[in-house]
Parts: sequence; structure tokens; C-alpha cells
Amino acid sequence: MTLITITDGPTFTLRNAHLAYAMRVNARGVLEHLCFGPSLAEAPPPLSLPLRHCTVMLKDHETLSLNDLPQEYATAGQGDFSAPALHLGARDNSVLGLRYKSHALLLDKPPADSLPTARGNASQTLCVTLQDAVQQIEVDLFYTIWNDHGVIARRSVIRNVGSRPVSLRQVASTALDLSPGEYSVQHFHGSWAREFNEERLSLPTGRFTIESTRGTSSNAHMPYLALIEADATEVTGRCYGMTLIYSGNYSISVERGEFGRIRLLAGLNDFDFDWTLEPGEDFVTPEALHGFSPDGLGGLSHVWHDFIRAKITPERFRDTSRPTYLNTWEAAYFDVSEQSVLQLADEAADLGVEMLVLDDGWFKGRTDDRRALGDWIADPERFPSGIPALAQHVRDRGLKFGIWLEPEMVSPDSSLYRAHPDWAISAPGRDPSRGRHQLTLDLSKAEVVDHIHAWLDALLASAPIDYVKWDMNRNMTDLGSGARAHRYMLGLYRLLGRLTQDHPDVIFETCASGGNRFDLGMLSYMPQGWISDMCDPVGRLDIINGASHLFPPDVMAAYIGPSPNHQNGRISSLSARYMAGLPCAAHGISLGLADIARSRPQLQQFMGQSGKSAADRLGSRFDRLRKTAQETIWQQTSRDCQTVYLIAFQVLNAPNLPIRQVRLRGLEPMATYILQDGRSYKGNQLMHYGLPLDQPTEDFSAELLILKKVS
Ligand code: DGJ
Repeated sequence: MTLITITDGPTFTLRNAHLAYAMRVNARGVLEHLCFGPSLAEAPPPLSLPLRHCTVMLKDHETLSLNDLPQEYATAGQGDFSAPALHLGARDNSVLGLRYKSHALLLDKPPADSLPTARGNASQTLCVTLQDAVQQIEVDLFYTIWNDHGVIARRSVIRNVGSRPVSLRQVASTALDLSPGEYSVQHFHGSWAREFNEERLSLPTGRFTIESTRGTSSNAHMPYLALIEADATEVTGRCYGMTLIYSGNYSISVERGEFGRIRLLAGLNDFDFDWTLEPGEDFVTPEALHGFSPDGLGGLSHVWHDFIRAKITPERFRDTSRPTYLNTWEAAYFDVSEQSVLQLADEAADLGVEMLVLDDGWFKGRTDDRRALGDWIADPERFPSGIPALAQHVRDRGLKFGIWLEPEMVSPDSSLYRAHPDWAISAPGRDPSRGRHQLTLDLSKAEVVDHIHAWLDALLASAPIDYVKWDMNRNMTDLGSGARAHRYMLGLYRLLGRLTQDHPDVIFETCASGGNRFDLGMLSYMPQGWISDMCDPVGRLDIINGASHLFPPDVMAAYIGPSPNHQNGRISSLSARYMAGLPCAAHGISLGLADIARSRPQLQQFMGQSGKSAADRLGSRFDRLRKTAQETIWQQTSRDCQTVYLIAFQVLNAPNLPIRQVRLRGLEPMATYILQDGRSYKGNQLMHYGLPLDQPTEDFSAELLILKKVS
């Protein structure tokens, strides 16, 4: 299948059934952007730029103003006044004018040092090399397109081909100049326990940026931004989404200039960033992804879900149903012991749960969050038999065993810190700031990465551990430079690469106080994540709904927590708490013995149902049918299209509500679907006229309708 064509000019066209992306080298050697959007047989001609007064033209060229021209990797200093993709720190000489040098079609998608990238199977990659003869640098722009996905991947490599060091101050992974249009910007912001809140604004003139300077991609802004046609809905309108395969300081911006050109930039955050490239060295940026759908926000989510499952998350777990689990955190917090954990394991077995997860509190001296991080041996008083024996006891009960770790952290009150105070991130002459009373280990240092690898590798080899919850509970400070923040990420990725390669059967779950580092970088190593500490049903609805714009249900985990809820005090039924997490691939419970005793039959029923339907949630199609302050309705259709789950929530009840019905999506029009109660419908009836829903009978009511396709 030809995905990339190169014609005279040269002009480069990347095209598959879902999208087309084209660029050309113009008469001045500038790599000009032609189009990104629907898959047309012919790319549109270059924009004809008007002759403008009072603007800067390239020398000897009457109409070529870089401030107008859509480009592939724009730089500053020659008449383009928008934010540049690349900026050098050379004093008095930061002007850059990148011009075409050469290109190559690559048979294999090249790796990006230790950075994670999307898997390149069934794809083609184009590399266009630009150069600046004065600065003596070259830039490789990599573009990858796949046979079956509405996604283009981009990244850049900057090479110092001169004889003096070069300072990189800003280096975008991608820069995309779109033609003028009426768009809204969609992005997701939040904080602890209230992640992924959607916000939309009309695309302003000027620049709008989302970013992180916190060392993690952060819950303040998920590294994802979409430009959507102003009147787009869940099912109509062109939508462009953009994200990064990266977990640290990033920035994504959109800028509309005075002539309407729209520039999207994504990459490492330039705050405090200064990277020295010695002669002969190169710098590889994280990979950025551009997704496109002509079918509204729902269409764009389907593009992302399919892509993330196929090209990002570990293949090993793609078709592996995730075990149901009982997690000790909200059951006991730090008050865990061998005896209490085995008691919970007995309960878990009785409830039909498949795995026991020992959360925080198990290691030496860890009786609260003020101490012991870094000393990863079982507390001899509370866990006298040690982790391998405990894991075996849990296994003997027919359960899998999972464990919580926070490998990147150290408590000042720990043997590790006392032995290696210099391993914690700090700035010269300063006592570093604490976050949850703890410090961050400096993963930019090889010896720190090696130390973590050694104890973790030994732990995983010593005990039958099936699952690791990899937590990270503070924002980074005292880094002192953006370059160090990036080196930290490179160290972390090297560590994760080694561990997941050597322990391929362990399910790693990414967690950072919930969703403070929920991104495609972490998901390249880990098949799932703990998206939020918010287990209240109302809070969780919004979080899953927001996250689902980018992330498929496959990567989400949710458990039933206590009521009143520990994060917001809300009292809710067990059923509402269960249903709010229903689409997630991994289901669990985090309840104490008394709570379990009170709700045993219902918990048995729910966990049994979760186990039976686990395979249906993998690779499922997820549709947001309705989202208002009071109502959330989701449709989840199994990959084999045989089972459709309709999950409908009413937050606050009200008397005499209007008739409730909802239209389904993506069904086979002439197929027959039968509900649990025997009612039967044709697919086209459900899609065009809808399914009636019950009137709610209480606040936070949740209704689950399951349709089976019978012919
Ligand atoms: C934060 C996580 O989000 C929680 O689920 C729990 O694991 C705690 N850390 C443990 O300290």
C-alpha cells in the first residue's frame, strides 16, 4: 500500500483512507504546508498569498512573506512573527532560516533514543532534512502515516554539523500551520481528584497555550488539545487533535495570526530549557501525534482509541482481560499487616475477586506518609514473613497478587536518604521543597536509575507479583533547569523499558496521585492507569467522560470506594459507585471488612458481572451519547459487536421528568438487538428513534441496559 507519494518539486503527500497531509518545497527552499484533512485524491494547490503592504518579504520575492506562509517547521528572524518551532540561544545570532536539503523514505520507523514512540508496523515514514548553513545545524523532520489510522506522527531531530556548541532554547516536536477557519479549542484541565474537565473556547486571535512545568505531564492540563469546527458535535464536524508521547514538562499551543493562519506547536516546554548540542551531537524530540476526523468529537475519539490500542499500549495485554481486584488503600490506608491483608484476601476470594492489591504502607516504618519511601523492604513487625511469602499465601487462595510502589521518591526520614542525600533533586545551596513530605530522586543520574532498577528487579524476581501500581505523588521542584527535567524523563523511560522488558507478564498500572501523569508516554509501558483518586460516582462520571476524548476504556481502572466518599463526603449507593466506573477495563473494590460484610451479595454480583464482561470492555467502541450537568449516557459496544452496554446516569432526581430516550450509535441497521427484559429492536430503530429510559427514582441513579445482537 502506497502511503507516501513524492512528486516533482518535491511535493510530499501522505494519504490513507482517513486523511491526507501534504507539503512541498517552494521556490525559496522553504518547506511549505499544503493541507491536512480529508483524504482527497488531489492535494489542494498552494495558497495564493496576497501582496501586502507593510509586511516583510523574503529578499527578491515580492509576495513571499513568511508571516503568511503555512510552513512545516517555522523559525524566527526572517519575517515570521508567530511563535517558532525552533529557537537557538546564540547571543546576537539566533536568526534561523531553515531550507530544504534532502529527503528519504524510510522502510522502518526509526527509534527515538530512549523516548517511547508509536509502534511503526503497517506504516511508512518520510524524513525531510532542512538545514541552516549559517548556524550549521540540520533538522530532520520525521512524518509517519499508518495504513488504517487517522493519525500522523511527527518528531524532529536537531543536529549540530558545525564546530561550535549550539544552545537549543526551544525545540518543538511538531509545528503545523492550518489554513484559516472558524474553530473552537477544546482542552482538559483539573487538579487532584477532579481531573479531565473539558473546556472549550472560540479560537482567539493571539496564542493559547496549555503546558506543564511540574516535571510530570500533570493533572492541571492533560497534554491534549483539539481544534474543532465551531459547530462540531459528537457526530459531525472536522476535528483535529494533538498530543505528545511524553510524560514531563510539555507545551502545546495554538496561535491565530493577523492574517488567519493557525499555528499548532507541541513539544518540550521551553521554560528554563537550554540544551547544549556539542559538535556532531543530535537532539531527539518526543513524538507528537496529530489525529483527524471529519465525524465530530466522537469520531475523533474513535480515531484515538483505535490508535492507542494498536500502536501505543503494550501489545502483550491488548487482548488480556484485566483481573478484578480488591485494593487495600481505602479499606485500611496505612494500617495494613500480614494478618489483615490475608483477611482481606479471604474476603476477596469469597467475593469472586481475582486479585489482591497491597497498596501503600507495607514497607519498613511506613506508618504514615511522612517516612520510609526508598526503603523497599517489608516492615518486619507488620509483615514478618516478607513479601514473597505473603504473595504466595495470596496465590494459595486462588488470587493474583499486586503491590504498590513509588520508586521515584525518597522520604527525608529514610535510610536511603541518609545514605545518599545527593540522590534527591535539589538546587545548589537550597533545602528542597517537600511535596507530601517527600523528595524526588534524581533520575537524570544513571546511578540512581541503576539503584531503583536493582531493587525493583530483585523484588519482582523474588515473589509471584502479577501487578504493580506505580505511583508518583508530588510535582517536581528544585530542578533548576528544563534540561534536567527532560533528562529525568529519559532516565525514567530507560528504567521502565528495562523493567517491562524483563518482566513482561507483570501488569504495571501508572498512577500519580491519580491522573497527575496520565499520558501516552507512561501508557507506552503500562497497559492501564489509575486515572483519579475520585471514587464518588458523580465526580467519576465527569472524569471518565473527559478522559475518554483521548483515552480508550482499555487503559482505565476504577474501583468501588466507601460511602460517604472520602474525597467529597457524598453518600451514594453501591450500585451508583459501581456503574460510574463500568466502562473501565479494570474493575475493583477498596472497602474495609465491615463495608464488605454489609454489601456482600451485591459485591459478589457486581464482581461476577465485571469478570464475565471483562473481555467486552477491551477494544470496545465507546460513545458519549449525552452529557449535561444532570445526565450522562454512555454506550459501550463490544469489539465483536455482539453486546451493547448502555449506561445512563441521572445526578439529581426531579419529579415528572420529561420522557427520556436516547439514540444509539454504530449499530448494524438491520440486525436485531434484544434487551435483558426481552424487548427487541432493529439496529436502525435504536439509531434513529432511540431506546426509552426509565424515570429515575432517586439521586445518583444509574441504569444499565444490555442489548444482545441476535441476528
Ligand atoms: C495516591 C494514589 O492515587 C492512591 O490510590 C494511593 O495509592 C495513595 N497514593 C497511596 O499513598
